[in-house]
Amino acid sequence: MSGKEFIVQFGPLDDFVNDYLAQHYEVLELWREPDPLACLERRGAAAKVAVTTVRRGCDADVIRRMPALQAICSWGVGYETIDVAAASARGVRVSYTPDVLTDCVADLAWGLLIAAARRTSIADRYVKAGEWRSVGAFPLTTRVSGKRLGILGLGRIGEAIVRRGQGFDMQVRYHDLRARPESPYAHEPTLVELARWADFLVVACQGGAATHHLVSREVIDALGPEGILINIARGTVIDQAAMIAALAEGRLGGAGLDVLEKEPPELSQLMSFDQVTLTPHVGSATRETRRAMGQLVLDNVDAFFRDGSLLTPIPA
Ligand code: DGY
Repeated sequence: MSGKEFIVQFGPLDDFVNDYLAQHYEVLELWREPDPLACLERRGAAAKVAVTTVRRGCDADVIRRMPALQAICSWGVGYETIDVAAASARGVRVSYTPDVLTDCVADLAWGLLIAAARRTSIADRYVKAGEWRSVGAFPLTTRVSGKRLGILGLGRIGEAIVRRGQGFDMQVRYHDLRARPESPYAHEPTLVELARWADFLVVACQGGAATHHLVSREVIDALGPEGILINIARGTVIDQAAMIAALAEGRLGGAGLDVLEKEPPELSQLMSFDQVTLTPHVGSATRETRRAMGQLVLDNVDAFFRDGSLLTPIPA
């Protein structure tokens, strides 16, 4: 016995996180096991803490295999892949990594919005392919400043997106499962009404069953042929087939998407649209923010073993 506390780590994180965990704890590195579930059954009994990510999740079956589990420390601001109900029923607490990624995700939302409206990715290819010289002036695009910004989900990230919108003199309205009377922005009780009003509709809500396909064909049609849809949240929030059909038929003006229903995606019609800008789920993927996310996972694990607390528990 090493005398170190025993934890289960579901998948590799940044090197400095893996190294720190390996140095300070006895770690079962589950991703290295040929049959992770069988291994958990055999060796997971003593684990008090599981370290996971929103991408790997932690379902009820996995929780059941760790009878001594007291805390799940997860990497990521989303936690829709963690069975929080199963964890709570067993008294297992869950931490995640909010706040530290808010600014970078909001920055990327604006990058996508401007790219989709002003077609900057296409313009870049236009110049590099010599078409500025051979074809001439680039086609006109869509103005951003002074337009109407609709936000689906006025949480931390939604608010950071709105704050940046003030620099673009945008009018703002939002739709959220619960209205926020303290907010200076108008709450639209239905998403369809928000989409009808907005020039840009930005998806910034949580993923999971409660928001699945909230952006439906009806919402997309309300946004309309001049409207632009931005998603930095979860691909599952948008009915992707309905969105692709609307783009193909000119019923939706454009889109800027960091997240898709299936990641990584298969090659599809979506990749052929000039009016769509895509990024590969990189909202939080800057060196600075990923370092902070990894550190927050470590801080939560250490806090738990120090005094039983979690620094950033998921909201009750
Ligand atoms: C998050 O933090 O939930 C991100 O989507 C991870 O990439």
